[in-house]
Amino acid sequence: MTQKSRAVICRELNQPVVVEDIEVQPPGRNEVMVKLHACGVCHSDLSATTGVIALPPPLVLGHEGAGEIVAVGDGVSNLAEGDRIITSFINMCGQCGSCQSGRPVLCDSASQALWTLPDGTVRTQDSSGDALNVFMGCGVMAEYATMHVNNVVKITQDVPMDRAALVGCGVMTGVGAVTNTAKLEAGSTAAVFGVGGVGLNAIQGCRIAGARQIIAVDMSEEKLELAKTFGATHTVLVDASTHKTIRKITGGGVDYAFECVGNGKVVESAFASLGKGGQVIVVGVAPGDDKTTVRTLVIPAEEKAIRGSWFGSARPRRDFPRLLGLYASGELKLDELITHRYSIDEAPQAFADLEAGRNARGVIVFDA
Ligand SMILES: NC(=O)c1ccc[n+]([C@@H]2O[C@H](COP(=O)([O-])OP(=O)(O)OC[C@H]3O[C@@H](n4cnc5c(N)ncnc54)[C@H](O)[C@@H]3O)[C@@H](O)[C@H]2O)c1
Ligand SMILES: [Zn+2]
Ligand SMILES: [Zn+2]
Repeated sequence: MTQKSRAVICRELNQPVVVEDIEVQPPGRNEVMVKLHACGVCHSDLSATTGVIALPPPLVLGHEGAGEIVAVGDGVSNLAEGDRIITSFINMCGQCGSCQSGRPVLCDSASQALWTLPDGTVRTQDSSGDALNVFMGCGVMAEYATMHVNNVVKITQDVPMDRAALVGCGVMTGVGAVTNTAKLEAGSTAAVFGVGGVGLNAIQGCRIAGARQIIAVDMSEEKLELAKTFGATHTVLVDASTHKTIRKITGGGVDYAFECVGNGKVVESAFASLGKGGQVIVVGVAPGDDKTTVRTLVIPAEEKAIRGSWFGSARPRRDFPRLLGLYASGELKLDELITHRYSIDEAPQAFADLEAGRNARGVIVFDA
């Protein structure tokens, strides 16, 4: 049955998001309809509204959601009505070379589900009957969404859904950058540049992995204070000598520097903060024309590296339950990440608050 749904939409670039009544079509083959309980507001949603992440409007935003399945399409055998799920903004086919080598974030099918479902069509239309694109196969900043089964991960743990939603991007991305991408060894030193929704999770990932020194770097004093509660041992307010301060704290530079801003200049500062053998892990998503310049010689001579981390190099069906388990055992902080809950009609305010840096994570809760 076609479902009426409130949804948060980017109609026009560089304009505030709008909340509209849309129609969500029932699931087709290998698809499910999800009733969302909560959806986090990630900087990548904001970047889609400014064109930094180039997804064509009109676009239903949202890719950090949790909810329950209310309808299943033909061919769906591993999910049923009533199942609770977290979204994956990567469509994971399970069959391609990347999926088969344990790197589903690089799945070949992901590039087919950037603003549509993987078959190139959408199940969403506005009140005039015009098609609406969906953020990376998700579009879950809405009461309902019809998604491909390869974009949903079933959860069995009894976790509050607003907290579960955060695992669908910010938590997985930040913690995974440390534990999956960097594979940080206990006793290492680390710096995290940008301690917002993703960076705070990189901080707690470093803490869980046993980093000896964890240096939070940000332009906001408030964010730095928050970072201490997530495990930062030191804080540095950004200035021209940030890298020197970090080299001093660590006696020569960090083993790992996580860039969680999306800015080539910050990547340069992170690189300058490395000790011998150190690596920068770039998590932030910069505009397409942004560039980073580094001294080439030190790459071989000091065995330094710059590498990327997409969705925390996740294997979502393995990692989501692990992260929820860490929450259950008290090691992973999710409650503290949510600094504001919004109704869907308050979404424009949620985006304004994100842009102004007022939240660790803001979450839209449905049926609030
Ligand atoms: N790689 C991935 O898979 C992935 C997934 C999710 C988000 N992202 C990207 O990660 C980035 C962070 O997302 P978020 O949701 O945490 O955003 P956020 O807005 O919550 O946090 C960004 C933080 O960076 C700080 N900051 C801004 N400029 C800075 C600078 N020059 N130096 C130091 N700190 C600075 C801000 O004060 C803020 O605390 C975005 O670019 C987002 O698109 C990447
Ligand atoms: Zn995100
Ligand atoms: Zn694949």
